[in-house]
Amino acid sequence: MLLYDGFDINENGHLTVGGYDTLALAEEFGTPLYVMNEDKIRENCRSFLESFGRYNGGMGKVTYASKALNCKAMCRIAAEEGLCLDVVSGGELYTALQAGFPSERIYFHGNNKTPDEIRYALESEIGCFIVDNLEELKLLQSDAAELGKTAVISLRVKPGVDAHTHDFIRTGQIDSKFGFALETGEALDAAKKAALYPNVLLKGLHCHIGSQIFETDPFVLAAERMATLMAEVHQETGITIEELNLGGGFGIKYIETDRPLPPEYYMELIADAIGHVCTHYNLPLPHLVVEPGRAIVGNAGITLYTIGNIKEIPGIRTYVSVDGGMGDNPRYALYKSDYTAVVANKASQPADETVTIAGKCCESGDLIQENTKIQQAEPGDILAVFSTGAYNYSMASNYNRIPRPALVMVKEGKPYLAVRRESYEDLVRNDL
Ligand code: LLP
Repeated sequence: MLLYDGFDINENGHLTVGGYDTLALAEEFGTPLYVMNEDKIRENCRSFLESFGRYNGGMGKVTYASKALNCKAMCRIAAEEGLCLDVVSGGELYTALQAGFPSERIYFHGNNKTPDEIRYALESEIGCFIVDNLEELKLLQSDAAELGKTAVISLRVKPGVDAHTHDFIRTGQIDSKFGFALETGEALDAAKKAALYPNVLLKGLHCHIGSQIFETDPFVLAAERMATLMAEVHQETGITIEELNLGGGFGIKYIETDRPLPPEYYMELIADAIGHVCTHYNLPLPHLVVEPGRAIVGNAGITLYTIGNIKEIPGIRTYVSVDGGMGDNPRYALYKSDYTAVVANKASQPADETVTIAGKCCESGDLIQENTKIQQAEPGDILAVFSTGAYNYSMASNYNRIPRPALVMVKEGKPYLAVRRESYEDLVRNDL
């Protein structure tokens, strides 16, 4: 069967995570349950730091995109590993600060930051605002002036690179709600405006070209275009851009055929691309920032469910229903995302049954995966779904008033509770 790094099968034929029996986890903490292998998360952090961190003799930074999984435990891990943090809402910022994340290492993203969020982030003295639009720029200037502060900013740019098509140069990318367009001159104009604001310090340029990307070409093309924009900004405003942020998007393995590339592979190609442009324009090399989210936490997580009823529709398909579903993992319902699952208590048996894994929500589209191969399942078995560490907990909802699962971290062979399971009382907490 397909085994992922950090997972194993023990002498009882049970799947283990970070060396701990998943059956014991299900017993101890209940299901559905998010389980994260903390050792694996740290390994992922280090592999990014060891590659991108080395860029140009240590001029690289790794920013964890916390939208992939934001809770206090995860913010603490990112802080301890020396990563910066990307937050995209007041709530993510609040969680990070509550976890004691150093505010100067926080980047604040978002295409529609509210005035309250901007004020909160300024007062918290975060490291950098990734400015999306001119309204935000104006607001930052006036708020920063009022508070007697300087807002350090990067500009969010649409580089016209769409990683999800093979037509990388599609101008259709102008049609995105994020940032300033490069090809229309909008980005350069924004830089000129920023240069005139006394309480705004233009430090960087930022782009993000997509998610779950395996190709390198779109990153290289984005790096070239952004470095060229750096040169134009320098020419037009005299400002030397110190930091080039190329966003996240590094793909991970969900199914057997996925072939993720090691971070150093991207780093070298990107470094070359930036180097060429900077030499051409006689510019100093900028610091390089990347913002992986999925690639830090995705493959470190699994979800454990208890299998309930199994419905065989002869000649059609077999539904294996679990005690969670789109509430804890909406990604198949939203994107038809690939997943691999295993019956955790029969992990050493052959996966030769083709089934559809269904959730318990009152909705036909509440599926985790269709026509996937797992071991012969029976009610009461524990099902593990791999690679659910990113965009599962963070995208969970209470649809059908189903409480959200607990999240357990396994560290050095021992589990600890990182997020408590929601109770029915939690569900009515704000009801009046
Ligand atoms: N930086 C920016 C500005 C982003 O918008 C994102 C993701 C990232 C970094 C991190 O991207 P990653 O390394 O995780 O691919 N909910 C979707 C993914 C949405 C990604 C949004 N932005 C999913 O479940 O696949």
